[in-house]
Amino acid sequence: MLAEDADLPLLAHDDPALAGDGFHEVLDDLASRSWLVRSDLGYMVLGREPGMALLKDRRLSFPAVELLELQGLTEGVVYDGTTKGLMAQSGQAHARLRRLVSAAFTPRQVEQLRPRLREYLAGLWQDIAPAGRCEVVTALARPLPSMAIAELLGVPGDAAQLAIWSGSLQAVFDMDMTAKRAEIEAAHEEVRDYVLDLVRQRRQQPGEDLLSALVHHEQDGDRLSDDEIVTLTSSVIAGGTDTTESQLAHGLRLFADHPGQWRQLGDEPALAEQACQEVLRFEPIVPFTARLVREEVELAGIVFPVGTVLFVCAATANRDPLTYTDPGRFDITADRAGAQVVTFGFGAHFCAGSHLARAEIIEALTFLAPRMRDLEPDGEPVFGTPTGIYTMRSLPVRFSPHEGQPGRLRY
Ligand code: HEM
Repeated sequence: MLAEDADLPLLAHDDPALAGDGFHEVLDDLASRSWLVRSDLGYMVLGREPGMALLKDRRLSFPAVELLELQGLTEGVVYDGTTKGLMAQSGQAHARLRRLVSAAFTPRQVEQLRPRLREYLAGLWQDIAPAGRCEVVTALARPLPSMAIAELLGVPGDAAQLAIWSGSLQAVFDMDMTAKRAEIEAAHEEVRDYVLDLVRQRRQQPGEDLLSALVHHEQDGDRLSDDEIVTLTSSVIAGGTDTTESQLAHGLRLFADHPGQWRQLGDEPALAEQACQEVLRFEPIVPFTARLVREEVELAGIVFPVGTVLFVCAATANRDPLTYTDPGRFDITADRAGAQVVTFGFGAHFCAGSHLARAEIIEALTFLAPRMRDLEPDGEPVFGTPTGIYTMRSLPVRFSPHEGQPGRLRY
C-alpha cells in the first residue's frame, strides 16, 4: 500500500506539548500505536527496527541540497559548502571522505584530549563553585565543546571564535535560514580563509592535531584536496559544538531531576561511562533524522515513492520496549544489555565525532558529580524545540560545592 493511502496517526510537529516530558509522552503514545505516523513535515518513523533499516538503506539520502533549495538557495558559498559537506554526500564519494577522515580523526587522538578536557573543566568549575549556583548552558555546556574542538584542531586560543562560527554554520538548517543568510555566508567565507591559512601553516610545520593529520594523511595514493579539508573542518566545527552542548545540558537537567542518581554517580564516578550512555539513550538531542527517498522503498507493506521525506525518530527507537526493560525510566545502573542507541544515527552517516562527544560527556560527569553535590533545579529550565537539534536554552541549578576526591583537582 502506498504510504499516502495508509491510515496513520498524525503528529503536529509544532504542538507546544512537544518539549520536556510531554515530548516523550506524545511520541511514546504514538509509537505504541503505529511504527509510522504522518506529520506536516513528512512521515515520522517511530519504530526502532524500521528506523534503523531506513538509515542504512542506500536508496535514501540526507536531503541537504533539497532543504536549501526549498528556502530558495541554489548557488553561492553556503550552497557550495553545504552540498560538498559529508552529510550531503552519498555512495562512493561519501565512503572515500569517511575513510580519509576516520584515518585522521582516531579514537587515540580523542584519548589524548582527555587531560586537557579535565583542565578545562577545572577552570570552568573554579568560576562557578563559590556561588553554589549557575546557569548550566552558559557556564559549562557551551564552553566545553568549542574548547575541545579548538584543542583538536590545534588552535586552543580560538575556542570562542569557533563557537560563534559553529552557531552561524549550523543556522543553515534552521527553518528561518533566509533571515540569517548574510551571517551564514560571512561565516562560510571566514571559516574558509581561516582553515586555508591553517592548512598552509600545517603543511610547513605539521603538529599532532587533526588538521595536520588531514593535510598529511595519504591512503593508497589518495589524499584530501584543500577544498575537501575546508569542507570537512567546517563539518567538524559546525557538527561538534551545539550537539555536545545540548547533550551535556540535557544530561545535567536529567540529573538535577534525579538527585539519587547524581549522588550515586558522585560516590562512584566509575559509573560515568554508563551514565553517559543512559543520557544519550534517554534524551537524544537529534530526535529526528531526515531522509529523502531516491529509489522506491517498500517496508512492512508500505511503499514510499521517490521524493518521500521521512524522519527517523531516535527518541522512540531509544525507548523501544522490545529492546529495553522499563525504557521510560532514567537509570544509570540499569543493564541495557549493550543495545546500541540511535542517538548518533546509524549506517553510513553514523556520527563522525561520537567518540569525542562521549569523551567530553564522560569527563564532565566524572569531574562534576563528586564536586557539584546536591544538584537541583534553581528555576524553570527553558527547552528549545525538538526539531533539528534539541537544545536547552537555559538550565538554572544550585548545588553544594565540594572539593571532589582527595588528591584530585581542587577548586
Ligand atoms: C552528543 C553529541 C552529538 C550527537 C548527538 C551527534 C549526532 C549526530 C547524528 C545523529 C548524525 C547523523 C545524522 C544523519 O544520519 O542524518 C551525525 C553526523 C555527524 N556528526 Fe555528530 N553528533 C554529536 C557530536 C559530534 C561531534 C563532537 C562531531 C565532530 C567532532 C560531530 C560530527 C559529525 C559529522 C561530521 C557528521 C556527518 C557524518 C557523515 O555524514 O558521514 N558530531 N551526528
